[in-house]
Amino acid sequence: MSPVVCIDDLERSALARLDQNARGFYSSGADGEQTLRDNIAAFQRYRLRPRCMVDISTIDLTQTVLGHQVNMPIGVAPTGMQGMAHPEGECATARAAEEMGAVFILSCASNSSMEEVAEAAPHATKWYQLYLCKDRAMTARMVQRAERAGFSALVLTVDVPLVGRRLTISKNGFQMPPQLRLANFASESTQANQRGSQHSTYDQLSTLFDPSLTWDDLSWLCGVTRLPVLVKGVMTPEDAVTAVDRGASGVIVSNHGGRQLDGCLATVDALGPVVAAVGHRCPVFMDGGVRRGTDALKALALGARMVFVGRPLLWGLAHDGQRGARLALQLLHSELRLAMGLCGEIYHSIGGELIMRLCSELLYRAGGEVTMGLCAEF
Ligand SMILES: Cc1cc2nc3c(=O)[nH]c(=O)nc-3n(C[C@H](O)[C@H](O)[C@H](O)COP(=O)(O)O)c2cc1C
Repeated sequence: MSPVVCIDDLERSALARLDQNARGFYSSGADGEQTLRDNIAAFQRYRLRPRCMVDISTIDLTQTVLGHQVNMPIGVAPTGMQGMAHPEGECATARAAEEMGAVFILSCASNSSMEEVAEAAPHATKWYQLYLCKDRAMTARMVQRAERAGFSALVLTVDVPLVGRRLTISKNGFQMPPQLRLANFASESTQANQRGSQHSTYDQLSTLFDPSLTWDDLSWLCGVTRLPVLVKGVMTPEDAVTAVDRGASGVIVSNHGGRQLDGCLATVDALGPVVAAVGHRCPVFMDGGVRRGTDALKALALGARMVFVGRPLLWGLAHDGQRGARLALQLLHSELRLAMGLCGEIYHSIGGELIMRLCSELLYRAGGEVTMGLCAEF
């Protein structure tokens, strides 16, 4: 196989290695996959405006986020069931993030438990993603376990009031392989935790989730934890304002990688208005379709504090376990660094915080206006 020099190469390698069951689960989007495609295509509608003769001899990608210093403004989005990509699953991905100094978000639907991941990557900046379950006592127990295991933030995913219809998964009749389990639920007496049973699919897990959620429930979650709570799946300024009013310490603009509402707008298009609405109050993050360093730079220029990647890490993991996951992050890190250098765009320190310079001049969008990012500091 030819050398891997970009995320697309990793994807090709991964798709050739994965079986049909896992390939369908990881790569699919909802319905006609318009949003899945558009998340990627939308980045190409933004163009960079490079500036010349800027001293870029020091390009610093370190970033302070929720009080933690990280080495790069690109983190690992939560994706469930990584054990199908590699036997070490989430432990390998977390170790790769630890090596690279990147934020790692663990999905609650993981095959390695939060305690196993914490032990595998004790020094990584780890956040725990959760859904609110009908059984609030169970949710509270999960929150306490995440706190005890050393996760430093909770990520509440709010874009799954119902599970989107992913046609490839339906056609394949997806089943989690029998040797895997939904590890975080193993100590809970739910159908979803039965190792290898027909109930062990994400769809079964989702029957635990509460479809009656409202913003009051975010206030409940903020009240039962000492950790900052980020809300993932916000796509409008209206929801972003409410999330922050109700106690969120940050929002992640996300459409679940195009797996939920097909026809939903691309995340990079949703980002600017959300930053304009709440960027002065909390950090705004985004995920969806980031495949290159230039994509990350465009999102940062629109005001994202950091971006997250989902599938690229799955491709890396399937390609070569921890080494492959690290390669995915390394590729994105070096591409972002190069893009920043070529744009004459550097992070620099002001009062101990890091902000992006010239962000309001960095982009224009083919055929339309761009809402520029704010240079807020957190
Ligand atoms: C296979 C797969 C599983 C996912 N599982 C979860 C999950 O358990 N919880 C969650 O909040 N988001 C989940 N997501 C969404 C990701 O966190 C993220 O929003 C999305 O992958 C970003 O898009 P990208 O894959 O284009 O980078 C999943 C995405 C994929 C592809």
